[in-house]
Amino acid sequence: MKKILKVFNNKISLRDNSPPIWMMRQAGRYLPEYRRIRSKVNNFLELCYNPKLASEITLQPIRRFNLDAAIIFSDILVIPDAMGIDVEFIKGKGPILGVVDNFQKLNQLKFDINKLENVFKNIELTKENLDPKTALIGFSGSPFTLACYIVEGSGSRDFEKVRRKIVVDEEFFDQLIDILVNCVVRYILRQIESGVELIKLFDSWAGILGGYHFEKYVIDPNKKIIEAVKLKYPNIPVIFFPKGVGEKTLMIVDKIPNLDCLAIDSSISREWVVDNLQKNNVVIQGNFNNLILSEGNFNQVKHEYDDIMRNFGKSNFIFNLGHGVLPDAKIENINYLISLLKGG
Ligand code: CP3
Repeated sequence: MKKILKVFNNKISLRDNSPPIWMMRQAGRYLPEYRRIRSKVNNFLELCYNPKLASEITLQPIRRFNLDAAIIFSDILVIPDAMGIDVEFIKGKGPILGVVDNFQKLNQLKFDINKLENVFKNIELTKENLDPKTALIGFSGSPFTLACYIVEGSGSRDFEKVRRKIVVDEEFFDQLIDILVNCVVRYILRQIESGVELIKLFDSWAGILGGYHFEKYVIDPNKKIIEAVKLKYPNIPVIFFPKGVGEKTLMIVDKIPNLDCLAIDSSISREWVVDNLQKNNVVIQGNFNNLILSEGNFNQVKHEYDDIMRNFGKSNFIFNLGHGVLPDAKIENINYLISLLKGG
């Protein structure tokens, strides 16, 4: 059996016949208990760097929903923060970063991993308080997605500035990506040393690249990271989430063979995934439409659940969403979804 499923199977005693489940962004604003803690601090990063509060938030969705994995509460943008880039989360606007778009600024960056000490403390604290039946997942942003925020200076619908920069100054971009590969490896190794049992890499903007840029900025960096992590910790499974990459998924599984699990978004056809990935023994995670949790009723939840189970079934599969739980997700829909899985 695949290593990643063993991590879950060793944990789950209740349900031998259904896939494990956890949800991207399972901790967050849709939970009143999160909003209560969130209202105590002004600044989102302050929460990420408060081990007691961050660990409490990590455990909130586990207590409420009895999920099979907890994901450390933090954010992908702690890496730019620890590199010395200004990172702020502004209400209603999302993250705003000090732009780094030339060699002069790039050369001034210095990754101070000690700034992330409290993330590692959060991991240790969570591990102490987590039922050993629940897997603990650590994560990082992938280099390209981090570079998107660093060069654009904020979120964006299509990161046009970043795509222009790659054309104008490919050398700068190459160097930024190389620096980030190094930071991500160091960050992940420290998370594993602190107690996480699985790693997830978020490449949320991988889908905006094509041609050789996709290979250079998505495939190669993630491959390097996974190889470096496996060299030291061959038994720690890695889940990779390259959002929006469509048919390029095949290139990923072909070029990164030591990947343990591929997370898929909601736009990808389930039939295609079965024929091209699952049948080739690739473990997949996904791809429940997160908007159904926000806008849908029980019938719609059941319909989506049935379609996923009919296609992906019970093997080589981890139940999850196609993207994160949204702030307006309805808790009753999540309860119902979990009762379908756990009862089924
Ligand atoms: O999944 C989890 O429960 C663990 C925690 C987690 C957060 N962000 C908490 C968070 C994880 C794994 C992330 C990853 C993340 N962060 C990604 C990759 C996944 C994806 O969604 O594509 C990205 C691109 C980010 C960057 C980021 N962080 C954005 C764009 C925003 C603002 C969007 C918004 O909803 O306001 C954040 C803030 C953020 N990260 C929140 C949470 C719970 C909301 C902040 C708040 O409470 O005010």
